[in-house]
Amino acid sequence: MHEFRFVHNKLYCESVSVKELALRYGTPLYIYSKKTLLDHYHKIEDAFKSIKPLICYSMKANSNLEICRILVKEGAGLDIVSGGELYKALKTGLSGSKIVYAGVGKTEDEIKFGIKNNIFLFNVESLPELMVIDRVASAFKKRQSVAIRINPDIKPKTHRYIVTGRHENKFGVDFDTAREIFLNRSRYQNLDISGIHMHIGSQIVDARPFVRAINRMIQFVEMLGSKGIHIKWFDIGGGLGIIYSNEKPQTAKEYASAILPLLKRLKAKVILEPGRFIVGNSGILVTRVLYIKNTERKNFAIIDAGMNDLIRPSLYDAYHEILPVESVPYTTKEGISTYDVVGPICESGDFMGRDRKFIGLKEGSFLAIMGAGAYGFSMASNYNLRPRPAEVLVYGKAHRLIRRREGFSDLLRCEKGL
Ligand code: LLP
Repeated sequence: MHEFRFVHNKLYCESVSVKELALRYGTPLYIYSKKTLLDHYHKIEDAFKSIKPLICYSMKANSNLEICRILVKEGAGLDIVSGGELYKALKTGLSGSKIVYAGVGKTEDEIKFGIKNNIFLFNVESLPELMVIDRVASAFKKRQSVAIRINPDIKPKTHRYIVTGRHENKFGVDFDTAREIFLNRSRYQNLDISGIHMHIGSQIVDARPFVRAINRMIQFVEMLGSKGIHIKWFDIGGGLGIIYSNEKPQTAKEYASAILPLLKRLKAKVILEPGRFIVGNSGILVTRVLYIKNTERKNFAIIDAGMNDLIRPSLYDAYHEILPVESVPYTTKEGISTYDVVGPICESGDFMGRDRKFIGLKEGSFLAIMGAGAYGFSMASNYNLRPRPAEVLVYGKAHRLIRRREGFSDLLRCEKGL
């Protein structure tokens, strides 16, 4: 559920009219509901309260400082994948002790940055990376905790670009390699190899692949146990799906009740890394119709948001519901038309939705692209030299700019040819 709803045909975010926000802050505009954000965080926290896991919000989903800070204040840790994310994670006020760091290509500088800031856990994705972390930790005279990311070779049903837990994917190591690492852990004198990690993919709507993957991981832990090696941390990653159209994803409670009995077999403390589940439905992208273009084949609603602002439809063929911010009351069939909702970018792949029906859509109408809180702004770019949109947080009747709209001068910030 979320806090975007219609009151007398007008879309509201909590108690604030979306149209008012669009007029005040301009479009394209990301709008987030604080209540929805917290509700989703608490849903996970409640579902798992019997084991009190460390919930590390995956900040790649939405790394706005204020959004991260709200979750950190609520007790969340952060899951990061780059030096940039670490830099921002620390700016939220979070200490390194609640930061977990994954990613197949951590550079030595990034590893140094992490160790210097006492991050809690590196989720290590290869043997050579393990060696670099050991070497860097030794230079800092520190003993660094690490978890081995294992690729359990499970195929969840989701877009092929966001499956990560199959053997053909670049992520993690296989069970044999992980076994070798644990058996030879004394070779890495500056590491405390004390955890295992998995993340099998994203937008997974069914608990079964998680159960299968966790079962494999538990077998592995039990094998290690029989050799006297005990795991302190089991990081089960993120990946929970949300509703974009007619999906029926498992709820946090269903997810928890499917996997808790398995997790309780282990003594290890559990870490979760949800991203989309927490922010996905907390945000929308509001856009204005610039032109209506009717052709023999198609009607196009040309909007002021493009694939640079929200790339998911273009990149994954993802479906996002598109709603009129002020809906015209339905009286007769007259006026219902079907449109491709397209952006201003010079590519045919620049669309937000195809064959969508609207009543009385006209130039100047505002549209809301729903479910844009996760992997929306965080994947935005300046392609076609478009300044990136503003972001606004709504809480109750109040609203606040949490990132200003970029201007033309931002486009030149790093240029040397001036
Ligand atoms: N942990 C790790 C190691 C990850 O790689 C990811 C996401 C997460 C946690 C969080 O996954 P979530 O709970 O959000 O599913 N851009 C794509 C999604 C890419 C996900 C990458 N990894 C999209 O827009 O669908």
